[in-house]
Amino acid sequence: MAAWYPLILLLHLACAILFVGAVAFEVLVLESLHRQFEPAVMARIEAAVMARARRFMPFVVALLFLSGFALFDIRCNGFACIGSRFGWLLAIKVALAFGVLAVFVTAVRAAMRGTMDPCRFRRTHHLVLGLMAAIVVLAKLMFY
Ligand code: HEM
Repeated sequence: MAAWYPLILLLHLACAILFVGAVAFEVLVLESLHRQFEPAVMARIEAAVMARARRFMPFVVALLFLSGFALFDIRCNGFACIGSRFGWLLAIKVALAFGVLAVFVTAVRAAMRGTMDPCRFRRTHHLVLGLMAAIVVLAKLMFY
């Protein structure tokens, strides 16, 4: 599997950019539109954005986690790196990634059940963006 390392890393990075980018767009761009549009119009825009994201985001997230597991195995040599500084920072990064996954799955289920109100929508995105910022910082910090 180590021979595939550069490709797996590229896949992981591309999926991370798509996932983090989509959440950053929702928090930094979409939310600012609330000042310009009526709540009913905003609700329709947000529903349309969610419907579009639901079509490809689960696939991106699945690839992000699968490539993450492969990178973990290569970089950590199983679980051998746990105990070192690199290993602990990587473990915290993975724990935060599972936190993001839990929030993401809960939000998708709430949207499907129709229980996702605008306030919860905003809170969820802020939380996910904060966790992702920490993940990206840890992903680089663990090497230095
Ligand atoms: C929300 C989920 C995740 C995000 C946003 C994310 C993001 C990133 C980013 C930005 C990098 C740096 C890549 C580079 O500089 O080329 C990275 C590296 C890495 N990630 Fe993730 N990741 C996520 C989930 C995971 C999971 C679930 C695992 C393992 C189970 C994982 C394992 C790794 C490993 C081992 C590296 C180091 C790869 C290397 O440079 O050799 N990641 N991640």
